[in-house]
Amino acid sequence: MSIDVILGMQWGDEGKGRVVDFYAREYGVVARFGGGDNAGHSLVVAGRTIALRLTPSGVLQPHAELFIGGGCVVNPWTLLEEFRMLAALGVDVERVSVSDRAHVVLPQHVDADKRREADREQALGTTGRGIGPAYADRASRVGLTVREFCESDAPEAQRLRPHVVDGVAYLHDRLERGVRVLAEGAQGTMLDVVYGTYPFVTSSSTIAGGACTGLGVGPKSIGRVIGVAKAYCTRVGSGPFPSELDNREGEYLREQGHEFGTVTGRPRRCGWFDAVAARYAVRVDGVDAIALTKLDVLSGLERIGIVTAYGADGAVETEYVDGWREQIRGARRITELPQAARSYVERIQRLAGVPIELISVGPEREELVR
Ligand code: GTP
Ligand code: IMP
Ligand code: MG
Repeated sequence: MSIDVILGMQWGDEGKGRVVDFYAREYGVVARFGGGDNAGHSLVVAGRTIALRLTPSGVLQPHAELFIGGGCVVNPWTLLEEFRMLAALGVDVERVSVSDRAHVVLPQHVDADKRREADREQALGTTGRGIGPAYADRASRVGLTVREFCESDAPEAQRLRPHVVDGVAYLHDRLERGVRVLAEGAQGTMLDVVYGTYPFVTSSSTIAGGACTGLGVGPKSIGRVIGVAKAYCTRVGSGPFPSELDNREGEYLREQGHEFGTVTGRPRRCGWFDAVAARYAVRVDGVDAIALTKLDVLSGLERIGIVTAYGADGAVETEYVDGWREQIRGARRITELPQAARSYVERIQRLAGVPIELISVGPEREELVR
């Protein structure tokens, strides 16, 4: 039985949370393979917004088991707080298991993150959650595994212990029983520690290959790879952003798309869809199909740009297509979209080189074009 992967093709915040929630209906296990509480996934269900940092986004599918893989770094305080929040909503958190091989983010990592940011000539704009220092400690072989933490006498250790499993045995046991597993990425391809816009990246492997190392499975176990891309681009924090709009159109995207960080509240930088970055992600991740999100945000723009090539000195080539005025949140089939919106989607599909199999047109669960 194979593992399918859903990951971000841009700089994170593509809307992976709601896309995972949708696909999760067909899977028995939803597994996070990297990152920590730097991630912030928002799910909107019946008008209510639920923000998740560590728990996989499949948690609102009552049948699914949830797994936090060895590739993750876990802040026990955040995780236990998230469990309390979910339990208060009536969500069963007993289904959440944490790999013994994940590493622990400690208060000293959070302090070090803030200190290192302050010391840098150009700050990275991290989420300040201690992610970099925790991964650095792992690589330096001085980190603390979840297993070791649970053997300690910290009060949180006791509460976390019932959730901790031998991660390799847990996952392979299910795969051997034919249970379908969905691997959920955090952040996005352009924030990958190796293949992203280094050094303006996070400290984990966010690409499809990260699902293998982060879950402890071989490359042949990976089935489909679904790349989530927003219909425009955003980036939170510093670093290269070739399609960035520092004008009224960028402002429009930020306002219409509510582009403010889930974790930090920072305004996100906004820009046109970057087809160069999309093609890069298709290569690096082996994307089979794209879920295109937030198409509704573009309604009302006179023209819509797509960056098609990078030139010298940060210059980019941008082509423009006609916008549309209609609101599209009610559309459920491609034929219900205005012609200009369909042309835009077709153009992106052609430039990316892989099919778009799902389009989201609003934050609510059912606001999807299939
Ligand atoms: P990261 O792990 O932080 O990268 O998170 P993410 O990819 O899950 O995305 P995040 O939840 O941070 O941001 C997506 C935001 O867009 C959320 O507030 C969603 O409710 C919202 N959203 C998702 N899909 C749509 C859509 O189709 N239309 C609109 N208007 N909003 C959407
Ligand atoms: P860190 O992961 O907190 O170290 O942050 C490193 C970079 O990744 C910063 O630019 C952050 O803004 C960005 N980043 C980390 N997590 C996310 C996320 O979930 N969504 C978007 N950007 C993120
Ligand atoms: Mg987010």
